Amino acid sequence: MNAAAPEPDDPAALLAALRLQLDWGADEALAEAPLDRLAAPPPLAPSAALPAAPSAAGEPSRRAAPGRRGAALPLAAPLAPAARNAAALAAGAQDLAALREAIREVDTPLRDTATNLVFADGNPDSGLMLIGEAPGADEDRLGRPFVGQSGQLLDRMLASIGLDRAAEDPSRAFYITNILPWRPPGNRTPTDAEIALFLPLVLRHIALARPRHVLLLGGVSAKALLNTREGITRLRGRWHSLPLEAGGLPVLPTWHPAYLLRNPAAKRDSWADLLLLRRTLSGDISAAPGGLT
Ligand code: URA
Repeated sequence: MNAAAPEPDDPAALLAALRLQLDWGADEALAEAPLDRLAAPPPLAPSAALPAAPSAAGEPSRRAAPGRRGAALPLAAPLAPAARNAAALAAGAQDLAALREAIREVDTPLRDTATNLVFADGNPDSGLMLIGEAPGADEDRLGRPFVGQSGQLLDRMLASIGLDRAAEDPSRAFYITNILPWRPPGNRTPTDAEIALFLPLVLRHIALARPRHVLLLGGVSAKALLNTREGITRLRGRWHSLPLEAGGLPVLPTWHPAYLLRNPAAKRDSWADLLLLRRTLSGDISAAPGGLT
C-alpha cells in the first residue's frame, strides 16, 4: 500500500490514514516493520538470488509472509507437500472433533492473518448442510460461520421455511460451514489454490456429517464442489448430484446471502430456491436432478 505518510504527530491524520487502509482491505499486519514495495530492491549476491517465482495468470502476487520478507511465493497452486499433507489430514480424521483439529494443522499463510478458526455451526445431525465461501470479519472474531450481516439474512431466510440452526430437533435444524476455515485478509475472494488445498477437508466434512441434502451458498462453493467453471447464475435453482464414495448426494446451489444484500432483486430467485428446498425436505418432490416424484 502506498498511502502518503501522515505527519507523525497529527493523531487525526494518523487515524484517517488507518481508516483508509481499512477501507482498502489492509486490515492485517503481516510483518513487524512496514515494507516499501515500490522501493528498488537491494542488489543480491548471485548465490543469494531466489529463483523467479511462477505466478498464476491473473492472480495477484502474494504479500510476504511473516519471516519471509521480500521472498515472493507462488500463489498458483498449493505447494505439493502442503496439499498432500492436507489430503492425509482429511483422510485421518475419524469424527468431526478430529477434523476440526486436522484443519488447524493444514499449512497455509491464511492461519497467520486470521484470528480464529471457523469450523462449523448448527446441528450436525440435521441432514441438511449449508456450505458458504469463507469467514468474514465477524466470523473471524467469533469463530463461527455466518454470524455477520449476511449470516443474519441467511438465518431469516431459513426461518421463513421453518429452519433454525440452533434447533435441537434435527428435522428443524441445519448445519453450516465454509469452503475455507480461515478468513482471507481483507475479505478477498479465496484463490483457486486455497480452495484446492481445503477441498479434501470439505469433502471429509461432508462424509463425516453425512447430510442428506446440501445447500451451496454462492459461486465459490458451487463451482468448487461441482468441479465446474459454470457460473452460479446457471447452476442455481436446481438439484445437482455430488458424486461421493457413498453415492450421489443432492446439492442445491443458490445465491450467496451477501450477494442478496447487494442485489435485493435476486431475493426472488432465492425464495424460489428456498421453496424448492422446503418441498424436497418434506418429500413433496425428489432431489433427483430435475425430477419430480
Ligand atoms: N460469508 C461466507 O461465505 N461465510 C461466512 O461464514 C460469512 C460470510
